[in-house]
Amino acid sequence: MRAPMESSVDSKKRILIIYFSFSSQTNNLIQSLVQGMEKYNVKVIRERLVPIDQLRFPIGSVMGTIRMMIVTFFRKRFPIQPIGDRCFEGYDLIILAGPTWSYNPSGPVLSLLDRDGERLFKGKHLIPLISCRGYWRVHWLGLKRLLYKKGAKVINIMVFVHPNPEPWRTIGVFLKLAGSVPEKKSWFARKYRKYGHTRKQLKEADRFGQMIAKEVVQGGNNIHHLNFDTEIARPL
Ligand SMILES: Cc1cc2nc3c(=O)[nH]c(=O)nc-3n(C[C@H](O)[C@H](O)[C@H](O)COP(=O)(O)O)c2cc1C
Repeated sequence: MRAPMESSVDSKKRILIIYFSFSSQTNNLIQSLVQGMEKYNVKVIRERLVPIDQLRFPIGSVMGTIRMMIVTFFRKRFPIQPIGDRCFEGYDLIILAGPTWSYNPSGPVLSLLDRDGERLFKGKHLIPLISCRGYWRVHWLGLKRLLYKKGAKVINIMVFVHPNPEPWRTIGVFLKLAGSVPEKKSWFARKYRKYGHTRKQLKEADRFGQMIAKEVVQGGNNIHHLNFDTEIARPL
């Protein structure tokens, strides 16, 4: 007979989060999402995708950044290390998170889908989380199509966009990737305070985590009704 402690741990609902993050923005959102989830009685397992050829942030040059934008536009795959065996266990919900790269899912996420997509996602309830500067719809459509092909049941979507107005947002991301610190350039800083997501958005990710975990604990039948399309997550 199992000890009572052990059986209560075993009966917890389980959520798997698989994610890639290049400049820490998805990573920060996931940290907050998990914090929110852990306020409920769920077990959260996190798996970060690690490219085989290390990717350095920032890219460090204008030419390197342009090259990366071109190859990612054509959906170049970025091979990844094997993921942990625990990812293939049973889960009540899977979150697949990562940035938009040139209107597409990032190269490491594409590699994951090619290599492990069917084994990981077939028949599973899944919510993608997208971190981007602002242009996520083409990414979302493409990702949804790829996930359906792998047999996933995509039941909702979380999108966080950088809350800076254009054109400063696009210029700021480009300069940041190229290795500059746009927030510290006096002429630019007035228009562009910060690269990436704000504290308010991280708090929103925590709230989303709570909403998801609460639903999962209650059986998960209403996750598709949860509203993640908020002013804070997707301003402008
Ligand atoms: C190569 C590359 C291409 C990008 N292309 C887009 C894009 O098409 N649309 C967009 O909204 N953001 C784009 N971005 C910005 C990232 O999606 C955004 O900075 C995101 O928050 C980064 O998340 P991460 O730090 O987890 O990698 C691009 C970033 C990189 C590195």
